[in-house]
Amino acid sequence: MCGIFGYVNYLVERKRIDIVHTLLDGLQRLEYRGYDSAGLAIDGDKPNEVLLFKEVGKVAALRQLYDSSNTDGDKTFVSHVGIAHTRWATHGEPSPLNAHPHTSGPLNEFVVVHNGIITNYREIKSLLESKGFKFETETDTECIAKLAKYVYDLNKHRDLDFTELAKLVLVELQGSYGLLLKSIYYPHEIIATRKGSPLLIGVKTEKKLKVDFVDVEFPDFPDISVEPASNFNDSLLVPGAPDLRRSQSRAFVSEDGIPMQSEFFLASDPSAVVEHTKKVLYLEDDDIAHIYDGELHIHRMRREEGLPTFRSIQTLEMELNEIMKGNFDHFMQKEIFEQPESIVNTMRGRVDFEKKTVNLGGLKAYLNTIRRCRRIIMIACGTSYHSCMATRAIFEELTEIPIAVELASDFLDRRSPVFRDDVCIFVSQSGETADTMLALQYCTERGALTVGIVNCVGSSISRQTNCGVHINAGPEIGVASTKAYTSQYVALVMVALSLSDDRISKRARREAIIDGLSKISAQIQEALLLNDSIHMMAETDLVNQKSLLILGRGYQHATAMEGALKIKEISYMHSEGVLAGELKHGVIALVDENLPIIFLATHDSLFPKVMSAVEQVIARAGNPIIICNKGESALSKLHKTYRTLQVPATIDCLQGLLNVVPLQLMAYWLAVRKGFDVDFPRNLAKAVTVE
Ligand code: F6R
Repeated sequence: MCGIFGYVNYLVERKRIDIVHTLLDGLQRLEYRGYDSAGLAIDGDKPNEVLLFKEVGKVAALRQLYDSSNTDGDKTFVSHVGIAHTRWATHGEPSPLNAHPHTSGPLNEFVVVHNGIITNYREIKSLLESKGFKFETETDTECIAKLAKYVYDLNKHRDLDFTELAKLVLVELQGSYGLLLKSIYYPHEIIATRKGSPLLIGVKTEKKLKVDFVDVEFPDFPDISVEPASNFNDSLLVPGAPDLRRSQSRAFVSEDGIPMQSEFFLASDPSAVVEHTKKVLYLEDDDIAHIYDGELHIHRMRREEGLPTFRSIQTLEMELNEIMKGNFDHFMQKEIFEQPESIVNTMRGRVDFEKKTVNLGGLKAYLNTIRRCRRIIMIACGTSYHSCMATRAIFEELTEIPIAVELASDFLDRRSPVFRDDVCIFVSQSGETADTMLALQYCTERGALTVGIVNCVGSSISRQTNCGVHINAGPEIGVASTKAYTSQYVALVMVALSLSDDRISKRARREAIIDGLSKISAQIQEALLLNDSIHMMAETDLVNQKSLLILGRGYQHATAMEGALKIKEISYMHSEGVLAGELKHGVIALVDENLPIIFLATHDSLFPKVMSAVEQVIARAGNPIIICNKGESALSKLHKTYRTLQVPATIDCLQGLLNVVPLQLMAYWLAVRKGFDVDFPRNLAKAVTVE
């Protein structure tokens, strides 16, 4: 998905080349989200000059474009604002013209980078065209820059400050946005704002900040343009005198009165900021951040009851090495091998293995309400949906509450009934998936209690749910989700355990699961030892196949679905996860001596039924690959004839955490063998922020 990065230096002398590299490196950190073009805007040599560089393809291509432009890299800037963007095409094909930053016109008076969609851009565009503006691109974003110019010209005589101008522009926009706005009329200033699309600001100052928060500032004239103009006539003029008072941001007040050197890093994702600073401020929807004179100010259009009047400057938990590949060839590979550790991080401080208890701070106050609910609806997409499928049965068993598992898009398509006494659990790695977000809004409007199970701290879903659990898997950069899946799985099991901890009848079962959790990290490590044999199997047996089936039932149905999704996503091989019980109802027609069929035949109460499906396949000359437990005696006859992948045994409801590992490795090695870009599979983005 699109990525935003901005860099502001104030009284910190930087060469242009360093500024450009900071912007490009920031974009490179966002590459994992998926994109098809990139661009940046910096100041030119003359005053009031802004230079734009835009290129299709990778950030490396943009770097080359800049390098070949003969721009004077040695020119220094004491204060400067640069903005940059990676674009994932939605309106208009990937092209240098459609790439961001977009401009108000040939003089680049206003330039903007934008994530999200302006749904009323056609109306804005035709009104601006009627005022003589010429649009060059097919994008929705261009209208923002041109609207800014129009509003500026209309109010020229009034000497608006950048915030006031931004308010007049923003009030006209419908849809979602995270955006940065830069202008030659407001040199060294930047506007950053969001509505439904994440944006955070990293802060690096020469001296310690006075306070670790920024006050929210409200207008003195609350009636200034808080309603959109019905058409672009004089209503875009500021009524009355503009508020010329410039406030001081308490955090940035320097004790000795000497202006403080500062740098700001604005990004849609913390991974682009962490190498510069760990002090960050997450913007809330409708916040308008205005940075000037080394100070960060947060404005809002109007005062809202009950909302905090400050924004905290927090410390990022993320470490730089978490977003580097280290000794691995790909992020996906690194993340598969990180699972023994990431799963421990999910449980850290929450599961007491001695006392056999689970304590989830983010849910504690809501547990009784959840226990009393009429039903729990788990809602997610893709891999996150599979983690819900994987844990549904243990939820039902431990809580005895009816559990529905829903794909967010289908749930919304059906306008499924939701009631005040429902609890809706939203599971998402990114916390920004549009379908899941829309489902969250839908359930919030209907008064249900909403719970988030999210990896990205500060993401929209984690902020907009009533309560929840961060899975703490660490940044997941590979587009194909692996460690987030296993951590979501564990987090959901922990939620089920917490909900049932008032039930004596479930105690033995709960304790057995907690025992299972205590060993699971070491067992994942053991399952990872299959790496070499799976590598070999992918190279020799599987790489030339056109299709592959994965069969499992009970807890392993979700594993089959998840394994098949991984294989499709990155090796582009058709693969299907099938409920083993459904084999005889149609899928068996596909069985022949060629089609690889992977069975998830680890030991649980359904093992005999899975084995009968294996027999049915063998009876039709099929050639199964069997994922089974180490030393499974029932399979001793088959070991010699058919290929097996042996994983450690754990309690039934956790076995999926181990069984998925060989399938992740298989997907990985198939993609590597086929020469595909493992971390950037075609057509996919890390966070799907469009419907
Ligand atoms: C698959 C994958 C996707 C995501 C899905 C939901 O490897 O990554 O299927 O799981 O797009 O994304 P999140 O979890 O960010 O809501």
